[in-house]
Amino acid sequence: MRKHIVAGNWKMNKTFEEADELISNIMDKLEEVELDRNTQVIICPPFPYLEMASDFSDDSYFMVGAQDVSEHESGAYTGEISAAMLASMNIEYCIVGHSERRAYHHETDEQVARKVDQLLKNEIRPIVCCGEVLEEREAGKQFDVVRRQINDGLFHLDAEQLKQVVIAYEPVWAIGTGKTATPEQAQEIHAFIRGLIAEKYGDKVAKEISILYGGSCKPGNAKELFANPDVDGGLIGGACLKAEDFLAIVQAF
Ligand code: PGA
Repeated sequence: MRKHIVAGNWKMNKTFEEADELISNIMDKLEEVELDRNTQVIICPPFPYLEMASDFSDDSYFMVGAQDVSEHESGAYTGEISAAMLASMNIEYCIVGHSERRAYHHETDEQVARKVDQLLKNEIRPIVCCGEVLEEREAGKQFDVVRRQINDGLFHLDAEQLKQVVIAYEPVWAIGTGKTATPEQAQEIHAFIRGLIAEKYGDKVAKEISILYGGSCKPGNAKELFANPDVDGGLIGGACLKAEDFLAIVQAF
């Protein structure tokens, strides 16, 4: 059975003290709940708090992910963080190709592909984001957009490499807007993505890949989203900044 995953993307939020408090609260609450063994909780704080999160995670149930990584191996890239650096801090996951990176930093599918390669080389599991903007959805182009992002970002991998990848479908019109995709819209694209993987790598591989939904996922809608056969969890933005909300989503399977 493929993994259920709930990953919290903190984005650029929280001071050091606030981060410490949030992680401690998540840890305490995780101790109180009984999660099924198949559920993986991941928190993705900003880079400066990764070490703290990683230390906490030694005694807890969650894993730690970064929010981005450099496409380069090492060298004169001021401000960048390499996959080898993350690996040396025991970081196990990393978000790649988030729509905010694509929009504000003009990240392309080719760069996404190179970042994925850097991560896999360092045994870090990429959480690769895809999803259409509102105009693309309104023009009925969501399938074409997602097909291109998956094809150009991931389909250079072999099957064993692809199995390390988690995919997050995040319709850009739903991110931080309070507008969630309906469970039917989410299921439709998730099934489409799984179909693309099956076409290229076969059914067995497609069945093993976790595909997360992201975009205004919260305690009130997580259950109906996660109830869909191809929705394996969520990538959570706003709602992961409060331990109670994040934990409510973690328990929504
Ligand atoms: P949101 O963000 O939950 O605040 O909509 C999701 C994301 O960007 O990963």
